[in-house]
Amino acid sequence: VKIYSSSKDGSKYVAGEIAALIREKQQKGEKCVLGLATGSTPISMYAELVRMHREEGLSFANVISFNLDEYYPIEKDAFQSYWSFMHRHLFDHVDIDPKNIHIPSGQWPKDEIKKYCAEYDQMIEEVGGIDLQILGIGKNGHIGFNEPGSSIHSKTRLVNLDNTTRMANAYEFQNISKVPRLAVTMGISVIMKARRILLMGWGMKGKIIALSVEADVTEQVPASILQQHDNCTFVIDEAASSEL
Ligand code: GLP
Repeated sequence: VKIYSSSKDGSKYVAGEIAALIREKQQKGEKCVLGLATGSTPISMYAELVRMHREEGLSFANVISFNLDEYYPIEKDAFQSYWSFMHRHLFDHVDIDPKNIHIPSGQWPKDEIKKYCAEYDQMIEEVGGIDLQILGIGKNGHIGFNEPGSSIHSKTRLVNLDNTTRMANAYEFQNISKVPRLAVTMGISVIMKARRILLMGWGMKGKIIALSVEADVTEQVPASILQQHDNCTFVIDEAASSEL
């Protein structure tokens, strides 16, 4: 666990780690495979990456990205889609090759969704796995949209959203009835295969951060499973450390 006095400082640390990895891989002539997250938590981290691109020449030309999740169903151009979120906060402002961007689709045909999810996991394997996975955390301990009860063995799949998650995310929509009931999420086993994981948590997340870091590993608190990963850091601010 790394505790910063503000979310701004924590965000700068995470952006700095991402930039350092991108540059290290660039020097070796290698691709850098990033697992990316959405939600309010990573917004200032993405802003810092955009700043580094503009002011320090950080290039994303060697970056391959895989996003964690997407609402289902949702049109990719909808303002609330994670496809739109990622373009608004990062991809539209940096030099990543659009071919290297992967985001689960909220428009995959329902009767073929298992096939598309399996292909998503296969694409991650084909590029050699995720070098660095960025995560946020839901108030119920979800990572991606892996809600409590998700198996440690789970792969990318269609899931039901908890009502508490739908309520927490209702601010993005006109009202709760407009929040999709389903989502596609990268599975826990896929997240756990990343070589390094940085989970960010700011503000009123103290209780769930403490449960995830200090209590028993349980599928009822998906983020607690990260205790079993050998290179995972929780990057949090003081408020989120209040129960540690
Ligand atoms: C969202 C996302 C998660 C995110 C979490 C926390 O619904 N699917 O990937 O980490 O919930 O959201 P926030 O960062 O807005 O607190």
